[in-house]
Amino acid sequence: MERIIEIEKLSFENEYEKSLRPQKWEDYIGQERIKSNLQVFIKAAKKRNESLDHILFFGPPGLGKTTLANLIANEMQTDIKTTAAPMIEKSGDLAAILTNLNEGDILFIDEIHRLSPAIEEILYPAMEDFRLDIIIGSGPAAQTVKIDIPKFTLIGATTRAGMISSPLRDRFGMHFRLQFYTKEELAKIIKKASLKLNKECEDDAALEIARRCRGTPRIALRLLRRVRDFAEVESEDKISLKRAKFALDQLGVNDLGFDELDLRLLRLLVEAKGRAIGLSTISAALSEDEGTIEDVIEPYLLANGYIERTARGRIATPKTYELLKFKNPNQPSLFGEEYE
Ligand SMILES: Nc1ncnc2c1ncn2[C@@H]1O[C@H](COP(=O)(O)OP(=O)(O)O)[C@@H](O)[C@H]1O
Ligand SMILES: [Mg+2]
Repeated sequence: MERIIEIEKLSFENEYEKSLRPQKWEDYIGQERIKSNLQVFIKAAKKRNESLDHILFFGPPGLGKTTLANLIANEMQTDIKTTAAPMIEKSGDLAAILTNLNEGDILFIDEIHRLSPAIEEILYPAMEDFRLDIIIGSGPAAQTVKIDIPKFTLIGATTRAGMISSPLRDRFGMHFRLQFYTKEELAKIIKKASLKLNKECEDDAALEIARRCRGTPRIALRLLRRVRDFAEVESEDKISLKRAKFALDQLGVNDLGFDELDLRLLRLLVEAKGRAIGLSTISAALSEDEGTIEDVIEPYLLANGYIERTARGRIATPKTYELLKFKNPNQPSLFGEEYE
C-alpha cells in the first residue's frame, strides 16, 4: 500500500497544498515564538527601511518552512525567488540568480545543506558584503573580478541542521527551529483547510485527524483530503468523527499516527533487547535510505520519547517497550517471563 505518512513526497509541494498555504500571519497557526520574533524583526527592518537579515529555518519536512518564507516576503512586500540547492550545480547558476535579484528581494534556497562547497564559497561574500567574487581564467593569469549585487535577504531551509557547514550557518543572522505541532493547533489547521475545501470538518473529527498526523501540517492536510473523499462518496456534507475514524483506519494510520515504517523501526529496536542499533543497520533492515530515516522518520519518534540516540546507535525507550508490549530488558519483569 502507498505510504500515506510518507517520504519523498513530503518534500515536494503540489497544487493542492499551494491552494491551502496560509497567506496571512493570522492563518499561520502555532510556532508562536518564531512568529513573534519574526514580526519584531520585520517591523524593525521596515522602520529602518532596510532589508531583513538572512534567516535559516531548520525542521523536518512539512512543518511550514516554505510557508514562513512566503509570509515574510508578503509582510516585507518584496519579491521572493525560490530555488533548491540541488538545482544550483555550477557557480554560474548561482551568479545568475544573484545578479538577477532586485534590491530588497528575498532569495529562498530550500534544502540548503545540499549546496556544494564551491557554491558555498560564492555565497559567503554575497551574504556578507553583497558582492560576487568571480574568477576569470585559470593558473597564474587568473583574475578575480568583484561585482556588486543588490542587497537581498537569503532565507535558507533545511531538514538537516547537522549537515549545514558552520561557516554557512554563522552567516545567517537568525536561526529558527520549527517544532512539531500540538493536536489543538493541527485541529485548527484542519478546520480552516476543510472550509477552503468546502467540506466542513466537525471538531472531534478534526482532533481525530490531528492525533494521527505525526504533528505535521502537511500530513494533516493530506489525511484530510483522503477523509474528505470518504465523506464525499457517502454523500455526507460534513466530515464526522465516525467517518474520519473509518477512513483513517482504512488508510492504515494507527492511533498514534504511526504507520508501518515507524512501527517496523520501533519493533527492530525493541527486538534488539536494549542493544543500540546503528543508522546503517536500520537503513538496511528497513530498506530505506539513511537520510529518510534521519530526516523523516526519527525526528517525530525522538521528539515524543519513543527512541533515543546514543553514541553507539538508537535504542528504544520504556514507552516503546510498553507500546509494543515487549519486556524491557532494563527493568526486571514482575512476572519473570516475557509477555510478548
Ligand atoms: N503553521 C501552519 N499553519 C497552517 N498551515 C500550515 C502551517 N505550516 C504548514 N502548513 C501547511 O502545510 C503545508 C506544508 O508546509 P510547508 O511550508 O510546505 O512545509 P516545509 O517547507 O517545512 O516542508 C503547507 O501547504 C501549508 O498549507
Ligand atoms: Mg518546503
